[in-house]
Amino acid sequence: MNHSGSSFHTALKSSIVITCAKGITPYLKEEVLSLGLPILAESVASIETEGTMVEAMQLNLSIRTGHRVLFLLQEFGARNPDELYAQVAKMAWENLIPEDGYLCVTSSVANPTVKDSRFANVKCKDAIVDRIKKKCGRRPDSGPERCGVVIDLYWKGDGCRVYLDTSGEPLSRRGYRKIPLQAPMQETLAAAVIRATGWSGNGNFINPMCGSGTLAIEAALIALNKAPGLIRSHYGFMHSKGFDESSWRVLLQKAQEQIKKACAGQIIASDIRPEAVLAARKNARAAGVESWIEFKTGDYAAIPIPDGNGVIILNPEYGERLGRLKELGEVYKGIGDFFKKKCQGYRGYIFTGNLDLAKKVGLKARRRIPFFNSKIECRLLEYNLYEGSGRR
Ligand SMILES: C[S@@+](CC[C@H](N)C(=O)[O-])C[C@H]1O[C@@H](n2cnc3c(N)ncnc32)[C@H](O)[C@@H]1O
Repeated sequence: MNHSGSSFHTALKSSIVITCAKGITPYLKEEVLSLGLPILAESVASIETEGTMVEAMQLNLSIRTGHRVLFLLQEFGARNPDELYAQVAKMAWENLIPEDGYLCVTSSVANPTVKDSRFANVKCKDAIVDRIKKKCGRRPDSGPERCGVVIDLYWKGDGCRVYLDTSGEPLSRRGYRKIPLQAPMQETLAAAVIRATGWSGNGNFINPMCGSGTLAIEAALIALNKAPGLIRSHYGFMHSKGFDESSWRVLLQKAQEQIKKACAGQIIASDIRPEAVLAARKNARAAGVESWIEFKTGDYAAIPIPDGNGVIILNPEYGERLGRLKELGEVYKGIGDFFKKKCQGYRGYIFTGNLDLAKKVGLKARRRIPFFNSKIECRLLEYNLYEGSGRR
């Protein structure tokens, strides 16, 4: 496959790698399959599928749990940086990158001749801009910002794969978090956590301790079937020559048409700190879902829980970045009492990075689903809160 050999054909299929946070692959796989694309391979933090550039654009628009959509341009062998330069310089970059554009090269390198992956980035970038200068008389600017064309180099041993990073900025930056508070959950992680609860819009979604509102906002997007990519207007693929703008407009139009008119259940977000509730509301407004979330200020235990069923999910502080352990032990115990007394009929969830604190809840978890929040190993603990069940 050689997409940059002549011109850049949006109709040609290529391998597409989608990266994600460690442990999120099962949820990402479901999303990719639901778009009708195959799973060719998977690792702990990525999956490989195949498709056209239009399908890569669709992935950027639709997936909730992935970080970057990498479209394979070329694969070759290179034993050292000089061979890398020679191979990269053979590719017809003048057909892909505007000479007056901006280029960023990122990489993941494990080659014995390269001590610092930044050196591989520079070698790759030099080969690209030298080639464009030779063919077009001028060279694009380059640097670390992901505001133009982003090229990703994956170099392991003697094998190199050169990708177009079609996302540019990672997809976890949906663009709605205007006011991030302390210890916010990454948007893609929040979406994966909601998928793990099985909630897709039926029943209520209650998120006390909402902080900047990420879980409630992602829940509203899921319930309304609103593609997260509709919130963002900027992607890496838009900067390459041959960007198929009319296909992109069609994808946007279809995604708009698929948005539901209303949420079936109630979505409630609350926090004890008024400034958190204010931030969550502003973030929800930026995501276009403010009117579908009820915001309340107060202690989680004092917020009325509507009759019915659904999911109640709390992401309390867990001492790694915030809070003190002893005090937090009382908070976790309180959540157990709250679940028992006030949340019957619901499925209760606690997302935490501290399993010792989780023991203070005093209820038997039905499932303990592993996740990673950056480098911290976390668990989503599930409690069945039917009358008389799940008690110790
Ligand atoms: C780890 S943060 C939640 C982060 C959130 N998932 C996000 O994405 O921004 C925990 C939140 O719990 C809130 N909180 C702590 N104690 C509370 C209580 N007793 N009642 C309600 N909220 C509380 C804090 O104000 C904080 O915003």
